[in-house]
Amino acid sequence: MKKIGILGTGIVGVTLANGFHDLGYDVQIGGRTKKDIENWTGATDTFENVAKWADAIVIAVKGEVAEEVVKSVADQLTAKTVIDTTNPISSDPPEDGVLRYFTDMNESLMERLQTIAPKAHFIKAFNSVGNAIMIKPEFSDGPPTMFICGDNEAAKKDVATLLQKCGWETRDMGGVKSARAIEPLCMLWCIPGFKDNEWKHAFKLLS
Ligand SMILES: NC(=O)c1ccc[n+]([C@@H]2O[C@H](COP(=O)([O-])OP(=O)(O)OC[C@H]3O[C@@H](n4cnc5c(N)ncnc54)[C@H](OP(=O)(O)O)[C@@H]3O)[C@@H](O)[C@H]2O)c1
Repeated sequence: MKKIGILGTGIVGVTLANGFHDLGYDVQIGGRTKKDIENWTGATDTFENVAKWADAIVIAVKGEVAEEVVKSVADQLTAKTVIDTTNPISSDPPEDGVLRYFTDMNESLMERLQTIAPKAHFIKAFNSVGNAIMIKPEFSDGPPTMFICGDNEAAKKDVATLLQKCGWETRDMGGVKSARAIEPLCMLWCIPGFKDNEWKHAFKLLS
């Protein structure tokens, strides 16, 4: 995992791209078209070209278009680690501070993506924390916990190593189906934001 391709030009894509670049990785960001991206001085290209170039991929697009984007680059994801940061947030507004999802409790967006690109090694990560604390989070109680899941054990190990470099401890929550439990953590994480404008917290698992 030396060349990381970020598919997504939004705040998550740019935050992770700068963070990984600072850690010494070679990083490119892809969008629908090749374009200049605010706060990013590195290479940019299209989703397809970035996916082709990279040996590990981050999916950081709007949840509603993730299936379409993965479908368009599925061949380029074969045998690669694919970090999935997306959440299946629907375009309907939150209800009393609770986000609405277009999936239900017995499926997840990452399972849909894995079905679309069966040879890719999808790992859920970075979905249940705000972009401002994705890289080197600092809390008095020590490093927070990133819950990850995915079917490929080697890919999960690589992602855990990357997360550790970014300042996280990780907890492996199992295979791709466990994304059914990890994706809704974003709903929980956002409630203090919508309710009290508090956006700088993270989860920690005590045992
Ligand atoms: N914001 C956060 O703090 C946060 C935290 C955790 C997880 N997440 C998740 O991370 C993902 C990215 O979030 P974000 O806030 O950085 O960005 P975003 O606004 O959700 O997504 C931006 C990306 O989506 C692409 N996109 C939008 N409409 C498209 C379409 N019709 N077809 C193809 N691509 C399209 C854009 O492509 P172009 O570059 O071509 O415009 C851009 O690359 C989301 O799934 C979100 O739920 C966000």
